[in-house]
Amino acid sequence: MIRVTFIEPTGDTRTLETVPSGSLMHLALANGVAGILAECGGTCGCGTCQVHLDEQTLERIPPAADDEADMLSLSEYLTPASRLACQIKLTPELDGLIAKVPEIQG
Ligand code: FES
Repeated sequence: MIRVTFIEPTGDTRTLETVPSGSLMHLALANGVAGILAECGGTCGCGTCQVHLDEQTLERIPPAADDEADMLSLSEYLTPASRLACQIKLTPELDGLIAKVPEIQG
């Protein structure tokens, strides 16, 4: 099991325990995390699954691929910590991940 914490746009914090499989977006949707709309179903085509990840997690995952970076570049809430949750595979190394959902999706 790994532990993942979401900070919703309201500031509410949700900590979930899960087996390390699937994507961060799927975990958010399955648990009704506020602000994650995921309108394209995880095909990197909508940008409505954006999260801001904690620094430790960012150091443990590969950088965004071109299609993810292109989609993120369209967001006014882009920060160096921005990633698309549908592109983040949950692995054992990501135990302790913290993902803040930007205001725009709330
Ligand atoms: S679900 Fe659409 S970009 Fe992630």
